[in-house]
Amino acid sequence: MRLPLLDDFHVHLRQGEMLRNVVPQTAAGGVGRCVVMPNTDPPVTTMEQVRAYRAELEACNTGIDFLLSLYLCPALTPALLRAAQAEGVVAVKCYPQGVTTNSKWGVSDLAQYDNLFAAMEELGVLLLLHGEVPSRAEADICILNAEERFLPELERIHQKFPGLRMVLEHVTTREAVACVQALGNTVGASITAHHLELTVDDWAGHNHNFCKPVAKYPHDREALRAVVAAGHPRFFLGSDSAPHPRSAKEGACGCAGVYTAPLLAAYLADTFETMGCLERLASFCCEFGHRFYGLPAPTGSLVLEKREQVVPGAYAGVVPFRAGETLRWSIRG
Ligand code: DOR
Ligand code: ZN
Repeated sequence: MRLPLLDDFHVHLRQGEMLRNVVPQTAAGGVGRCVVMPNTDPPVTTMEQVRAYRAELEACNTGIDFLLSLYLCPALTPALLRAAQAEGVVAVKCYPQGVTTNSKWGVSDLAQYDNLFAAMEELGVLLLLHGEVPSRAEADICILNAEERFLPELERIHQKFPGLRMVLEHVTTREAVACVQALGNTVGASITAHHLELTVDDWAGHNHNFCKPVAKYPHDREALRAVVAAGHPRFFLGSDSAPHPRSAKEGACGCAGVYTAPLLAAYLADTFETMGCLERLASFCCEFGHRFYGLPAPTGSLVLEKREQVVPGAYAGVVPFRAGETLRWSIRG
């Protein structure tokens, strides 16, 4: 099965030694172009950091086309956005404070960014939303309903800035799918490979499947599968591949993130076959996303073979998704 190289509209490539391992593994997983998340330490918030980060990524010589993003914070201005856009920044990523890895510099009050959103709407810079509100016991909010409770905020921003293209990232619930479907053509959603497979039972007590947002109920996974199988053009691949060292995942307080990059195309083929819609794979991974972003079609292709493989136990100290399991598909090397 020949496919265009994958467009991954949400990936964590990290820094330093981790980056030098992860970027080639991402290329091996079939990705030709990706939107790189800015939640490094410190986060990407200045032009100097954009340039330095791009140089670090490109030094890996993989040929991947890196689309960069900035971390939403008070330092971002319309002038900075304009300069960043000229250097390949396509989006601003919003992390509500405290909801996930490196979100401590994140947003506590989204309403304070209306001026910036107006500038983004005008420039055509996308707003990427980690769509969870922080847990708050007194409001009955926890990680199981944090995404659903965020949806009114998405609706509010869309009503106020109908021309602002927004992506609700890594959707996990029936409610989020329905909300994005009901909103206008400027609102899309990314879906990960792992959220098409996992439910609560798979991460409770299993640190390597723990990520944010957490996988939800079986009926939620069904809603994700259904919208993908229907070929809805505003739902596309954003893997949220998020490597952490094995020790950080297996500690008493395991951190959030599932690592799918090294075998991304193979995981997806396996899952789409399970879902009975292999014919939807190419549009989900290589068409709908770039159309939503307003980018050209991908160049380059990859071949998936119907050949079983066992997922390795680790890649340079990072345990991948479904380690030790057998996938029905392999990427031709
Ligand atoms: O599981 C996650 N890991 N979710 C995120 O939003 C961030 C990511 C990371 O950076 O590790
Ligand atoms: Zn992410």
